[in-house]
Amino acid sequence: MNSTAEVSKSLALRPLTPKLGAAISDVKLADDMSDDVFRAIYQAFVRYQVLLFPPQDVPPARQVSFARRFGAVQIHVMKQYHADGFPELYRLSNLDENGNPNGRHPDKGTLAWHTDGSWQRVTGQATIIYGEVMPETGGETHFADMYGAYERLDARWKARIANMRAVHNLDFSRTRRHGEDPMTDAQRREKPPVDQPVVRTHPETGRKCLYLGDHAEYIVGMPYDEGRALIEELNALAIHPDLTYEHRWTARELLLWDNRCVMHRATPYDPKTQGRVIRRCTVLGEVPT
Ligand SMILES: [Fe+2]
Repeated sequence: MNSTAEVSKSLALRPLTPKLGAAISDVKLADDMSDDVFRAIYQAFVRYQVLLFPPQDVPPARQVSFARRFGAVQIHVMKQYHADGFPELYRLSNLDENGNPNGRHPDKGTLAWHTDGSWQRVTGQATIIYGEVMPETGGETHFADMYGAYERLDARWKARIANMRAVHNLDFSRTRRHGEDPMTDAQRREKPPVDQPVVRTHPETGRKCLYLGDHAEYIVGMPYDEGRALIEELNALAIHPDLTYEHRWTARELLLWDNRCVMHRATPYDPKTQGRVIRRCTVLGEVPT
């Protein structure tokens, strides 16, 4: 991995916490981006795990083309969220056609710690979110470092989970968290549950990370209830305040993170009085190992 100093050469970069996250202030995402600048952004993405770009215009087509430089972009199975004619973009909004809050949170599943796309064989690499409208209070996005989560487990935990696999299931996490807007039978068939390693090795840094979150339902080869309890225990053990970055949004910021080594969640807001609209896309990575 390249050093921070080398990354900083071409980017104005400020760490957001001692361990996790950096803000990049000198890149206009709406402009054409050279390969050198993209390479520097990518190095920062691998090094800092979460990147923040300050308020700026990022048209939908630019968000998609930026995402494509990271890799193949996911077309989400929940087609009702597709935005702006781009099936790569997924909009979460609580505004009605007149721009007024409709009182309904668009995806309560985002309120629990998770990692995007863990419910499919090829999981999410980067997620890129553009904040179109942000509430005055709440609606934050929090990040937790899963390298640190793994490293802080004691030797007994590490030995116990070394070769364990968990089954991740989007239908499970949606149904148990809120049961709203359930997946159709066709969507369930398209995205059946998949098993993933509980400890994955980041393909670029070679470091081990804890890989669970809210889509993880049960443990392969373990009684269901015992596996559920173990997942809940590890999901709680994974969160350390000093390894967490809590982002309070300003509208028109763009956030980008590495799903292979961070978990994230949104915090609640009042969808009856406050608007929140985000435009999201997820870049596909690889099959976790
Ligand atoms: Fe997410």
